[in-house]
Amino acid sequence: MFDLNSYLLSKRKIINEYIERILNSSSESTPIVSAMKYSLMAGGKRLRPILCMSAAEAVGEKSDIILPVACALEMIHTYSLIHDDLPSMDNDNMRRGKPTSHINFDESTAILAGDALLTLAFKILSSSEIKNNDYKNMLKISGIIADAAGYKGMIEGQMLDISSEGKVLSIEELGKMHYLKTGALIEASIYSGAIIGGGTNEQVESLRIYAGKIGLAFQVADDILNVDGDPEVMGKAVGSDINRNKSTYPSVIGLEKSKKIAEDLVYSALKAIDTFDNKAEPLRLIARYIIERDK
Ligand code: IPE
Ligand code: IPE
Ligand code: MG
Ligand code: MG
Repeated sequence: MFDLNSYLLSKRKIINEYIERILNSSSESTPIVSAMKYSLMAGGKRLRPILCMSAAEAVGEKSDIILPVACALEMIHTYSLIHDDLPSMDNDNMRRGKPTSHINFDESTAILAGDALLTLAFKILSSSEIKNNDYKNMLKISGIIADAAGYKGMIEGQMLDISSEGKVLSIEELGKMHYLKTGALIEASIYSGAIIGGGTNEQVESLRIYAGKIGLAFQVADDILNVDGDPEVMGKAVGSDINRNKSTYPSVIGLEKSKKIAEDLVYSALKAIDTFDNKAEPLRLIARYIIERDK
């Protein structure tokens, strides 16, 4: 029987080793490198890089060929967390079980560590060794990742999030904001894995649909955990969305309906990949894990 827990653990190990290797590759460890390492190695779930690798596996490729891309995605994600926690954004003090970057260092170091992780991600994308010299697809996914992280994707989602504090959003507006701030990068992670993994157009499209659904489900689950999660387990604050007057799924439609929507999203995600063979088993189990997780 396939065991998701050991799968996630073994992928996390490979990802962490690769990230550490990159961060240790420069001979001098400057203060900015320390700040980058502090947030990157604080112990995230590594969900985006794992999804990227699992998508490559689902289309029949070995996931190690996608490892640099996967780690670049984790750098973009970690940068987004550092900036998300800043006083001018969500003003959070804890992340991944440790004081946030601006608390542990200072605000300017946190801003610059985020900038450095974002640019390092694209440096990795531009210099990765790729199987069969598949540079055309590497350029394609670099554009997809830039779009997902950029002003029409995650940044726009974060703009909507900050500008809607104190307002009550409709469920449609909320869905759009959540898709942009969180779903877009998750979708790009899976899309990239499917493309570099050599998936057929049909497979890539099915995985994109799966990704859009679990990307949104992931943020709905994050909203739910902000209400009924355990801050010790999550390593970050609970109740902060209500305190900052954020519109969230639970605040707009209630906790029970939010859980039902998350379930429905996972159901549709699984349906989108029901023609895949057992190489998509990790993706199937991750879809459930996304809404059942406690951190
Ligand atoms: C938290 O992401 C922020 C969101 C986009 C919801 P994760 O829950 O994946 O955080 P880490 O990477 O495990 O710390
Ligand atoms: C984070 O969303 C989204 C990004 C970092 C792009 P949240 O602000 O809802 O996530 P947490 O709860 O702080 O992790
Ligand atoms: Mg936020
Ligand atoms: Mg936040």
